[in-house]
Amino acid sequence: MRAGNIRLEEVTLAFGSGRGAVIALDKLSFSVSAGEFVAILGPSGCGKSSLIGTIAGFQSPHAGKLLVDGQVVTEPGSDRGVVFQQPTLFPWKTVRQNIDFGLRMRGVARRERDRILDEILEEVGLTEFGHHYPTQLSGGMQQRVGLARVLVNRPRVMLMDEPFGALDAQTRLMMQELLLDVWNEYRMTILFVTHDIDEAVFLASRVAVLTRRPGRLKTVIDVPIPRPRKLDVLVSPEFMRLKKTCLALVREETLDALGRPPHPDHPRDAHREAQHQEHDPLVATSGVEAS
Ligand SMILES: Nc1ncnc2c1ncn2[C@@H]1O[C@H](COP(=O)(O)OP(=O)(O)OP(=O)(O)O)[C@@H](O)[C@H]1O
Ligand SMILES: [Mg+2]
Repeated sequence: MRAGNIRLEEVTLAFGSGRGAVIALDKLSFSVSAGEFVAILGPSGCGKSSLIGTIAGFQSPHAGKLLVDGQVVTEPGSDRGVVFQQPTLFPWKTVRQNIDFGLRMRGVARRERDRILDEILEEVGLTEFGHHYPTQLSGGMQQRVGLARVLVNRPRVMLMDEPFGALDAQTRLMMQELLLDVWNEYRMTILFVTHDIDEAVFLASRVAVLTRRPGRLKTVIDVPIPRPRKLDVLVSPEFMRLKKTCLALVREETLDALGRPPHPDHPRDAHREAQHQEHDPLVATSGVEAS
């Protein structure tokens, strides 16, 4: 059975040392179950990319434990696919050759590679563009190649760091729908960093909100919107309610990061004040252990 459980136990990550050290993550604890889709929100510089990089194995925690399927992460591996805002494609290779790269590295036989490439190109809607070069593609198409490059490795975990951040609104929505289709088929675990609250609520089953730097888990919000989700959920009352909750939580941390007090007269900040006074039943920490 495919797995993909992620567990962080009091993970601390620092850049540099001595007086110039920057603590990016501070005793961050949380767990993601195999096959879950979790979005991560938090103010700029709070440590979201650091978190993705640590789970990817690009850097090691200075303290605490990071486990994927019970194994301590010590280095990058094809079991954890990473998708960044800018797809990292080889400009001198065609779409097919770019996607084929991972298969060749794993020593997959030619005929099997061709079969997998045909299947994956169809999945991401690029069948007709297999022999094009990256510069001949739009931004959205390039990002689909980037997605396909990772998918061919059948990762247990997909780590996505603002993957659609550079795309226009319409292409972005299309990519979100494509990602949900892909996830529905492959059921890998997805950790999806975004600044776009609509995107987080539309895609994820849970939204983890990080505090300002050093990043800790502020809270986790369950998104009980039924699947399959179509675009019309974006205007549903439940979606709006969840969006408002996320917005208030992120704004609170962003204001703190900027050292700015809230304005009680401003509707968004009034919501923030109200939040302190009443418990919001939508904010749950089930399945996640905050430190
Ligand atoms: N390679 C690095 N060397 C030194 N400091 C770093 C490095 N990478 C990140 N940092 C620092 O760690 C902190 C967290 O950065 P990170 O990139 O994880 O934030 P982020 O939440 O992804 O921000 P954004 O939303 O702007 O992408 C920042 O203060 C940043 O300056
Ligand atoms: Mg980042």
